[in-house]
Amino acid sequence: MHCQEKFLEIYKRESEALTFCPYRVCPIGAHSDGNFGKITGLAIDKGIHLAYSPKLNGVVELCSLQFEKRAQFHVRDIPRNKCNDWADYLRGVTLKLSEKYPLTYGISGVIEGSLPIGGLSSSAAVALVFLKALCHVNLIHPEPLEMIQMSVAAENEYVGVNSGKLDQSCEVYSKKNHLLYLDTLTDEYELIPTHPNMKPYKVAIFFSGVERTLAGSKFNMRVDESRAAAYALQAYAGMEYGKFKEAYLRNVPREIFEQYKERLPQNWAKRAEHWYTEFDRVQRGAEAWRRGNLEEYGRLSTESGWSSIVNWETGSPELKTLYEIMTHTEGVYGGRFSGAGFKGCCMALIDPAYEGEITRMVTEEYLKAFPALKGKFSVHMCESADGIL
Ligand code: GLA
Repeated sequence: MHCQEKFLEIYKRESEALTFCPYRVCPIGAHSDGNFGKITGLAIDKGIHLAYSPKLNGVVELCSLQFEKRAQFHVRDIPRNKCNDWADYLRGVTLKLSEKYPLTYGISGVIEGSLPIGGLSSSAAVALVFLKALCHVNLIHPEPLEMIQMSVAAENEYVGVNSGKLDQSCEVYSKKNHLLYLDTLTDEYELIPTHPNMKPYKVAIFFSGVERTLAGSKFNMRVDESRAAAYALQAYAGMEYGKFKEAYLRNVPREIFEQYKERLPQNWAKRAEHWYTEFDRVQRGAEAWRRGNLEEYGRLSTESGWSSIVNWETGSPELKTLYEIMTHTEGVYGGRFSGAGFKGCCMALIDPAYEGEITRMVTEEYLKAFPALKGKFSVHMCESADGIL
């Protein structure tokens, strides 16, 4: 970690506080939150560090060790429209926080990510770590759910990504050696402990070497397609329906989908197929974890990955290749591409006894397929971790 050193170098004094937000993985429950499904997830022991001090004049001044441009704005003077840079996440959460609480102090700080960007929800982690620091200097003590809601609202309304609450919930609620099992409709959640008889595992992150951004991807379109399916199904079935933006697959029983799916445009039917089958996998996965059956949980994660490729139709060629390699690598319980699947990495739950062999095999096969990504592809072995609070 270098953010404290960098702070000292810039400001010629030590930072007064250091805070951390973990990244997340979601082995089962991908693309569920956009229609209020259930998810399972874990925070990992890599994430975003922020070294900071309060600024009495209300200015925020943040350097990133990953991005060139320094973020600078006043907590009570946020531009209404986004500026299309990484600091939009900071401005967005500041705006959301200021709608609920008076803000006086700003911060000066240095922010640092510990892994390459893509698939681990570093954007939610940046927003949350900054939000936590801003609350700290302004003596605000929000509830965990409030933190989640403010950062989701910032991403939806300010940054313009139609994401659900999966990322933020995993990064806030998770607990080391537990699996988060969350219903994104009711916000009820459970932290299922690792069973005493469960085999040991690590979370392997295979970073493809390709970084792209969510806002520019087809992410929003997939959410729209799945909601369009919900709207149409309600109409076919003669169900009461309201505004389009209130249509979600969670409101449509699976039997209705089975009865009318042939009438949907094929693409919409596929998105819904993923959503309903993922709903089922999440529930089975949570039960498998409860029983300590890691093989079953892993297998369901691999199935989830397959459905994301075939039905949700995401995954770059690099991520699909990585996924395919993982499915035949010994010592991998299961896995999928992490996050939305338009960039970044694949995650797998692996047997630590095979760690070295897995790293070697996956690296060799992947670089055979994509030799130009040598030096950019990387493997990271992680442990489960506590959430930000
Ligand atoms: C991104 C979004 C999440 C979720 C996942 C896909 O990480 O931010 O809300 O939709 O993709 O599971």
